[in-house]
Amino acid sequence: MSTALITGASSGIGAVYADRLARRGDDLILVARNRDRLEALAARLIEETGRKVEVLAADLADEVDLARVEEVLRSERDITVLVNNAGVGGVGPLVESDVDAVQAMITLNVTALTRLTYAYVPGAVERGEGTVINIGSVVGVAPEFLNGVYGATKAYVLALTQSLQHELAATDVRAQAVLPNATATEFWDVAGRPLSNPDGVMSAEDLVDAALVDLDRGQLVSIPPLQDQEQWEAYESARGVLKANFGSGTPAPRYANA
Ligand SMILES: NC(=O)c1ccc[n+]([C@@H]2O[C@H](COP(=O)([O-])OP(=O)(O)OC[C@H]3O[C@@H](n4cnc5c(N)ncnc54)[C@H](OP(=O)(O)O)[C@@H]3O)[C@@H](O)[C@H]2O)c1
Repeated sequence: MSTALITGASSGIGAVYADRLARRGDDLILVARNRDRLEALAARLIEETGRKVEVLAADLADEVDLARVEEVLRSERDITVLVNNAGVGGVGPLVESDVDAVQAMITLNVTALTRLTYAYVPGAVERGEGTVINIGSVVGVAPEFLNGVYGATKAYVLALTQSLQHELAATDVRAQAVLPNATATEFWDVAGRPLSNPDGVMSAEDLVDAALVDLDRGQLVSIPPLQDQEQWEAYESARGVLKANFGSGTPAPRYANA
């Protein structure tokens, strides 16, 4: 038995993960606020795939609702995949943004994702099986593109996932970060900048299909829109060089005569 719990499954990228994972043989637990949409998707997928699909309507920015989803992740032993996909963006300049909206973004993109990961991973390690897919964004490495706090939340998603990969390397639990660029979903309407030009915009179906190819290949940072994978490898190897040189206990010589 394998079950995938997908957050933000009521639309966009999360709904496509639900479709693809059901077709790959997983039962599903679908999480988002909009129960009607989740139930419509569940009915379609039950009909088309014969899988078991449960709906768990929850506002992940609400502590009580979030705790309910955490409890499911802690207690249901069949959950083999957690897709942390629910997220909101921002497009306005940092200092002109409403700080309460910015905090709400952090609560969903960072706090909820972290708590759900914490709820899931220890049990998965104990069972010797599990996959966490965290939906980040290219803005996690390019925070200048959109709202800076949004970029920072996605930098957090990438850093957390890379840290998990490091810590879980000796276990059978995998963590993948997926970094979409502009993808054709309701994200842009919700963020306040509807997509007017489809150029350079990927479909959610292409995005998820490519990320799943990467997952099957063991590619744990998946950036489907990046045409030359070697550029990411070069970025990572530059990071590796830096990491190896942070260790000295004395300030660098450039400070000597300051
Ligand atoms: N589209 C892009 O260009 C793009 C690019 C890079 C990264 N991403 C990332 O991709 C992920 C999915 O976004 P998307 O593009 O598929 O946008 P979307 O269609 O707007 O989907 C967002 C999902 O998150 C759910 N959600 C929002 N607030 C929630 C809350 N408080 N509690 C529970 N669920 C909540 C929404 O459902 P309800 O409204 O029913 O709750 C919806 O299912 C996000 O993390 C986003 O940052 C998107």
